[in-house]
Amino acid sequence: MSDPHNHSAEAALAALKELQHEIQESILDSVQAVDEYRIRFLSRKQGQITALLKRIPEVAIEHKKLFGQEINAAKALVEARIEEAMVRFVESGDSSKQVADLTLPGRSLAKGSLHPISQALRLITRCFESYGFEVAEGPEIEDDWHNFSALNFPPDHPARDMQDTFFIEAPSAVHSGILLRTHTSPVQIRVMENKKPPIRVIVPGRVYRNEAISYKSYCLFHQVEGLYVDEGVTMADLKQIIHAFARTLFGENVKMRFRPSFFPFTEPSAEVDIWWEDLALPDGGRWMEIMGCGMVDPNVLEGLGIDSEKYSGYAFGMGMERIAMLRFGIDDIRVLYENDVRFLEQFG
Ligand code: PHE
Repeated sequence: MSDPHNHSAEAALAALKELQHEIQESILDSVQAVDEYRIRFLSRKQGQITALLKRIPEVAIEHKKLFGQEINAAKALVEARIEEAMVRFVESGDSSKQVADLTLPGRSLAKGSLHPISQALRLITRCFESYGFEVAEGPEIEDDWHNFSALNFPPDHPARDMQDTFFIEAPSAVHSGILLRTHTSPVQIRVMENKKPPIRVIVPGRVYRNEAISYKSYCLFHQVEGLYVDEGVTMADLKQIIHAFARTLFGENVKMRFRPSFFPFTEPSAEVDIWWEDLALPDGGRWMEIMGCGMVDPNVLEGLGIDSEKYSGYAFGMGMERIAMLRFGIDDIRVLYENDVRFLEQFG
């Protein structure tokens, strides 16, 4: 016993024995007792097992391995007793010892839903895809050429005015002016630049206009453009597809009309109205415009190297907000951009 090293090794072994005893004998009869037990033995800072591990250097080299193994076994026993006690509490059904109240009703998760604009877009896309249209896209930041010139807008057209268009850069030597596209029609040009007829695409996208914000207009909105170019395409084809589309979205008995109109890039041009029944109105409803359309102007085709004697085409463009508002009975466009969950929740 004169060897001090030997002395402390014995003390460490005695401490281990003592610990093993306590681990085995502690009474675990409540959740609180289990918590205290866990902290007392397993806590990384003050736990007694950690404390013993720190005493390994005191133990003579030939006993170190066994000492380490005993500590690990003690730790495993603590864990096993905790596990066993918890299972016992749950199975006993005694609520004072219950870890969790198993009788509580489950918490339901908040369910997300698609924004009405996305829903309208999906409906529109699905409808045209069933007629063989592909989906194309183009940039929201456009140049004047694609947004206006290639679409046959004359240089002094009022849409080119700063009043209506958000310009990013004024015309310069290298480009004709950079702007936020005011419609999805420039993508007609981009598609025809890259592909020879037959062409059959729809183009969904966001567009921007410098308008006074009110219940019916906003500075940005969404359009879906359509373009079909092939041999022998006629106005009858256009009317047929638009009518089919309106029936899909607004029902078999939808009433619609084509009203002559003007766009620089189509000739002839029309606007399409559908009859919106509203018995509170004196006429029992009113005509609502849903899109512009027409036969692609031969000037546009020729500008892209497409022979307008051989090919013809139709194009249409509709506002997705208008379609969503009609379908879901929304009377103010601004609610579509406010992200008020009380509004959005109604479209699950
Ligand atoms: N681009 C037109 C607009 O925004 C709509 C349109 C598209 C008209 C295609 C005719 C053909 O008003």
